[in-house]
Amino acid sequence: MENKKQLKIGAIVDGVGWSYTAWRHADMSANASESVDFYVEKAKRAEEGKFDMIFLADVSHIGPNMIPHYLSMFEGVTILSALSMVTSHIGLGATIATSYADPFTVARQMASLDKISNGRAAWNAITSNPGGLANYSRKHFSKADLYPLKEEFLEIVEGLWDSYEDDAFIRDKESGIFLNPNKMHPLNYRGKYFSVDGPLNISRSRQGRPVIFQAGTSPEFMDIAAKHAEGVLVNGDDFNYARRFSGELRRRVALAGRAPEDLLIMPTQQIIVGRTEAEANEKFQELQRLLPPGYGIPKPPFFGSAETVADMIEHWYRAGAMDLLLLRQEHPSGIDDFIDLVVPILQEKGIFRKEYESDTLRGNLGLPYPENRYASL
Ligand SMILES: Cc1cc2nc3c(=O)[nH]c(=O)nc-3n(C[C@H](O)[C@H](O)[C@H](O)COP(=O)(O)O)c2cc1C
Repeated sequence: MENKKQLKIGAIVDGVGWSYTAWRHADMSANASESVDFYVEKAKRAEEGKFDMIFLADVSHIGPNMIPHYLSMFEGVTILSALSMVTSHIGLGATIATSYADPFTVARQMASLDKISNGRAAWNAITSNPGGLANYSRKHFSKADLYPLKEEFLEIVEGLWDSYEDDAFIRDKESGIFLNPNKMHPLNYRGKYFSVDGPLNISRSRQGRPVIFQAGTSPEFMDIAAKHAEGVLVNGDDFNYARRFSGELRRRVALAGRAPEDLLIMPTQQIIVGRTEAEANEKFQELQRLLPPGYGIPKPPFFGSAETVADMIEHWYRAGAMDLLLLRQEHPSGIDDFIDLVVPILQEKGIFRKEYESDTLRGNLGLPYPENRYASL
């Protein structure tokens, strides 16, 4: 299926990197994962590159053998709130697991980030890797509970985000009328896992409500994503897998009564790029040399000169295997190189923007404005 929208790009900011050893690179600040200055610099740079968003993955349970980034890192919504104040257009995506958190709290945090950033927030709703049950007092849940629980969680959060119609607040000092109570809607949700009355005590943002992303692979995952996700993260190692997954997901989106183009396929890619193939190889060797003797990392699928990498990106995009490229970078100059070398070629090809179309995330992603469910009643 030929893409109707332009390519979108996001940068996963992983502090010292998503590996055991990238922190050892001479140009990497070893405390990057808990340095607000590091995150500010990356967010500003990604905005200069006209990226759609910066994105934060998350972990819910750690031990001493985890990658260094996970050992000491910021909580997502907190750091993104800070970044919203030093940026103006770029979207801000946080990962929070439905298996552990509480829907009222998540609805409130994400809606607040959305208002603070003037409509630039996204929530990546994942079931999450298993360990977190040990930290969130939910040991009684089994794996079979996680997706039914996630569905309730999403229904509640979406419901709470519609607590106020867009014209609910009058705030007229003369008459003394602050709120039109007819435009305030409690939820009164009663499920198997959650019971939430509502309403939520924050009104909707300029983009209506935060964009919802999800990540997973199973058929159970896909069914819920088809109903509730506006973007889905996909492991980007294999083109054929990404294309098949994308086709299957869009089929389910259509069955759920939604337009297939209202769901973005978002492969994560660890790109290594240079001015020439030799320069890319040199960077690859730099990363290899950080590993203990006897260990090696595979070359990523997107590897080589800027032209080669831009052609690969175009291929994935035109084949419908990638609507949004989620860039993951190990090399300290990775995001800078991508912006300096690859972005101009993508712009020249006419598949990536030269200027932001909008100052909301939804606007830039070309996603529809979600009308409040009570507005037409
Ligand atoms: C591309 C991708 C990214 C993910 N990112 C995270 C993450 O940041 N944190 C996390 O705890 N789990 C993450 N997960 C794991 C999922 O939340 C989920 O636990 C896992 O995919 C198992 O569910 P499934 O059987 O439906 O795939 C990710 C999964 C995928 C496919």
